[in-house]
Amino acid sequence: MPRLSDVTRGRLLYGGDYNPEQWPEEVWHEDVRLMKEAGVNSVTLGVFSWSKLEPRPGERDFGWLDRLMDLMHDNGVGVVLATPTASPPPWMGHLHPDTLPRDADGRTEWWGGRQHFSHSSATYRRYAAALTEDLAARYAGHPALTLWHINNEYCTYDWGDEAADRFRAWLRHRYGSLDALNTAWGSAFWSQGYGDWAEVLPPRHAHYLKNPTQVLDFKRFTSDMLLECYTAERDIVRRHTPHLPVTTNFMPLWAGQDAWRWSEEEDVVSVDLYPDPRDPDGPQAGALVQDMTRSQARGPWMLMEQAAGPVNWRRVNHPKPRGLNRLWSLQAVARGADAVCYFQWRQSRQGAEKFHSGMVGHAGERGRTYQEIKELGADLARIAPHVAGGQVTADVAVLHDWHSWWAGDQEARPSREVDYPEVLGAWHRALWGAGLTTDFAHPGHDLTGYRLVVVPQLYLLTDRAVDNLLEYVRGGGTLVCGFLTGVADQDDRVRPGGMDARLRELFGIRTLHEWWPLEPGETAECGGGLRGTLWSEELEPDGTADETVPYRGGELDGLPAVLRKGRAWYVSTLPEPEALRALLGRAAAGAGVRPVLDGLPDGVEAVRRGELLFLLNHGREPVTAEVPGTHHDLLTETTVTDRVTLGRYGVAVLKP
Ligand code: GAL
Repeated sequence: MPRLSDVTRGRLLYGGDYNPEQWPEEVWHEDVRLMKEAGVNSVTLGVFSWSKLEPRPGERDFGWLDRLMDLMHDNGVGVVLATPTASPPPWMGHLHPDTLPRDADGRTEWWGGRQHFSHSSATYRRYAAALTEDLAARYAGHPALTLWHINNEYCTYDWGDEAADRFRAWLRHRYGSLDALNTAWGSAFWSQGYGDWAEVLPPRHAHYLKNPTQVLDFKRFTSDMLLECYTAERDIVRRHTPHLPVTTNFMPLWAGQDAWRWSEEEDVVSVDLYPDPRDPDGPQAGALVQDMTRSQARGPWMLMEQAAGPVNWRRVNHPKPRGLNRLWSLQAVARGADAVCYFQWRQSRQGAEKFHSGMVGHAGERGRTYQEIKELGADLARIAPHVAGGQVTADVAVLHDWHSWWAGDQEARPSREVDYPEVLGAWHRALWGAGLTTDFAHPGHDLTGYRLVVVPQLYLLTDRAVDNLLEYVRGGGTLVCGFLTGVADQDDRVRPGGMDARLRELFGIRTLHEWWPLEPGETAECGGGLRGTLWSEELEPDGTADETVPYRGGELDGLPAVLRKGRAWYVSTLPEPEALRALLGRAAAGAGVRPVLDGLPDGVEAVRRGELLFLLNHGREPVTAEVPGTHHDLLTETTVTDRVTLGRYGVAVLKP
């Protein structure tokens, strides 16, 4: 199987989306000069080029792309070639309205933007396959071609009629019979029993609350349909270039795709990452996505897109202060990226993204953005021989599952204040703040390699996943579970007792009497100074726990907020950040997991990749970190002994 290392060949890829079709050809030559000056060695061509490549149905215009492929090759820049299928040309919707998706209210998504394709449309799929075939045949032997990029950020939904047909076929395959579907969907509730497959629909606009299992299955279905679109194109390009890897870029922690499932179908896992430069949690938000992508890739991964400066889609779009682009790029490398790429190479002058930064901004080569891009290119080239291909290892795994998210984040729940990504983020932030390197894992994965497994929240757990957790603890692992875990089975059916009985036994809980969700800003006082937020639970212990932290005051006074039974912990609230960090720090220490480095100054992140130690100062003030021993700093090419000073947003890459 071809891999990312076949593309990098000991380098770190550096570059970005390149949209030269937006520019006159003389600009292409300036682009190449600036790319070479900045050390750019990879560009992604063709992401949204469908109407250029197929100006009229069935016609082909490859001339411009031929010239670009040659130009890139002549200048030593590799090409990640995208299939342009994320944005069909206007003629397609005009001639074939069946290619356009419908939303849940029956409204059509028209052309004029992008991603206006129905994943279920046979017509769309046929045109996409035909163009992919011709693109792959034409460039299969081109020396510039290094990697295939299928579509772009698959993320569309469709509630239309053709999607409804495919949804029914998908359900027939999953359930086999209408009886089984009726059972899984609990259709006895509100007179929803189905007597004929033709009656089954996607969860369209309804008078009141929709059937939650129908909604859950629709999300599963959507992820699977998009995956079919991806694998169809992947198989075509693979046939032409079996030696070249294939990827598609994920959006970070995007709700619409089961990325565990998807990453199994990719040779290279890539992600687009745009933390807000003003967000104080930006560094950790980035780390979370980097950790998740690395875990999906099971090794080095590709940062396919980031912004060199501001994006254009937040309410207020902040540029990156000097040094931040370098810091966050090197953070990605520290956490396993072998490619640092951007959307996009040259900032557009027209179109919806003209105020989105590029590596070359409107200010051109004299602009600070490009100047910093050049400096970063030099830094990456300096460290590449030591870092490319290196592995990041973690003793801690955070469990995450899309199906659980889809089931848990619906209407009509005990509290709409509970936001799954926020809970996941809070737990990862606590581990990040404690200096612990974490992987992510699926609840069904082999967990035996981890000393500590944490479950911020897995509302839905299959029987097999519960088995897996129990076996993990039985085998000597330490498990920490957050609230609302193990509530529902695979059909979103509440388990007897409100929480899986085997898990209750694992934690020493006899009865879960009630959930007591908290109002925004409300806290639940607990023993030992711990304060809970968001949620609390009325739990009756069975007396087998080794340790409990009680709620203090209020309705739950004296009942356990936290239980530890052997190596299994249950946390029935969301502790405030410091308390969660302390709790997880304790659990980690008990499991024999140490932070990467002790005694780091505030705001300094430490990550090991292979034999290298990355130190990243997320603060604007210089700091000094103690690093026992003598190291060589690959960035400054100096020797450091026992301590290293990091300037504002400074980074050191230390080799023993
Ligand atoms: C990504 C997308 C790019 C560009 C970028 C802007 O979601 O793949 O094409 O739109 O966002 O931030």
